[in-house]
Amino acid sequence: MTDLSALDPHAARLRGTTLRALFAKEGDRFERFTAQFEDMTVDFSKEKIDDDALTALFDVARTAGVEKARDAMVSGEHWNLTEDRAVLHMALRGGADVPAGDDVAGTLDRFLAFAEDVREGRYAADAGPFTDVINIGIGGSDLGPAMVARALEPDRDGPRVHFVSNVDSAHLTDTIKDLDPARTLVIVASKTFTTMETMMNARSAREWLRGGVGDKAGHHMAAVSTNIDGAAEFGIDASRVFGFWDWVGGRYSIWSAIGLPVAIGIGAKGFRAFLDGAGAMDKHFRTAPLEQNLPVILAVLGIWRRNAMGWPTVALIPYDQRLERFPAYVQQLDMESNGKRTARGGDPVTTATGPVIWGEPGTNAQHSFFQLLHQGTDVVPVDFIAAAQSREGPGEHHTALLANCLAQGQALAFGRTEEEVRAAMKAKGAVSGDIERLATHRTFPGDRPSTTIVHRHLDPYTLGRVVALYEHKVFVQGTIWDIDSFDQWGVELGKELAVNLIPSLDGEADASLDASTAGLISTIKELSA
Ligand code: F6P
Repeated sequence: MTDLSALDPHAARLRGTTLRALFAKEGDRFERFTAQFEDMTVDFSKEKIDDDALTALFDVARTAGVEKARDAMVSGEHWNLTEDRAVLHMALRGGADVPAGDDVAGTLDRFLAFAEDVREGRYAADAGPFTDVINIGIGGSDLGPAMVARALEPDRDGPRVHFVSNVDSAHLTDTIKDLDPARTLVIVASKTFTTMETMMNARSAREWLRGGVGDKAGHHMAAVSTNIDGAAEFGIDASRVFGFWDWVGGRYSIWSAIGLPVAIGIGAKGFRAFLDGAGAMDKHFRTAPLEQNLPVILAVLGIWRRNAMGWPTVALIPYDQRLERFPAYVQQLDMESNGKRTARGGDPVTTATGPVIWGEPGTNAQHSFFQLLHQGTDVVPVDFIAAAQSREGPGEHHTALLANCLAQGQALAFGRTEEEVRAAMKAKGAVSGDIERLATHRTFPGDRPSTTIVHRHLDPYTLGRVVALYEHKVFVQGTIWDIDSFDQWGVELGKELAVNLIPSLDGEADASLDASTAGLISTIKELSA
């Protein structure tokens, strides 16, 4: 496990100063604390760091063996220790070599050709070309394509794409409400093809299709899975089953055929550009020195926030409505990867690991939880993401969006002192009683850190780079924390218990239940009688 104690003196020193003081002392913080990759700039000058702290952080990354670990992962070593698997999602986008015998290029060609067939109406329903596609999946088989489809809606010139994940039938019901089964294609997306929610939704969707097109329902279904036999047993014709490999983790699978709904929406060319963007970030991650390596910089800043400063959460705020689902996507990517308490060797970890990630797009977030970010008693570091150019709509909206993004970073970092509040109120003609009464309420402590990522515009290539940036950040942090970022044992127990509880909810007596669960089940039964 990496010793992080070298960060302590730096944290102590920087706790004794403020971002205001740091900016007053170092007028060139922007030049010193930004990094670039192509048109992408990461400004971390508003983080509570200085040169010495940053040097210590890169030393930590080197000592943890980040470069060696990265090369081992890329070489196909079984970096996912507990599942004894390679971690090679980068091979899906040219960022790593493909394992011998796995036909990545052929599978990509095949599912993109199918996407084009659907788009062009060559693969069509009896009633005509498919107008709508429903992707049924959950976790990595949902969040990736759902997030990307939403982000790249300006690129969509194919059928509409919808996503159903929750086993709550409200999700499927709402989705199919205005759809015509005679013109809808259903994709069942599941790495394992055993996930309870997905299989239940898939069966219900098949019934809905049967109700509309009878025995042609099978023609309206495709599948994406590593479990080809499972998809065949479900009755989906092999010509419409698209595989991937166990070396692709669920939350890293958007680059595989799991991206099929996106490809149907935006076309093969757009999907290849998305892969190219991620491949470009892979190359940067593999070759740039740590001090200029964007994923490494984000990772060590995260270590600084979490371990040196002790801040347990991160707010991820895209000032981009198109990235509406990005916080949810990164929640799975980061929290399922690095929410671990056991080190790779099996001992308990000795430092805090993955933070809680949460967020919503700006400017909406400003009008909900930003109050706490500015004046609450906890410090919540923020990641902002913004595009310099909008791809749609009148420019004045985008200018206002960007002004708000930058203003929030300013307000968080520099706040407003009580003296400034008093002076501003006085200048506006406030009476002295009001100034006395309100000055402390209107004071902003400031000194709250943020990092801002700016890129030109959100096209498929850029989205690929942004997603890969966060993937590699998670990997670097997992390496520093010495945990397996690629397993997810913590989700298993709840799944098992849920399966066991279905008979009790259906009326079977179970004397072994704890008092709370037994009480809740009998309450539910009474209420549903
Ligand atoms: O519940 C966790 C999980 O295993 C995720 O890691 C995965 O993305 C999701 O379930 C869905 O799994 P599958 O694609 O096998 O249906």
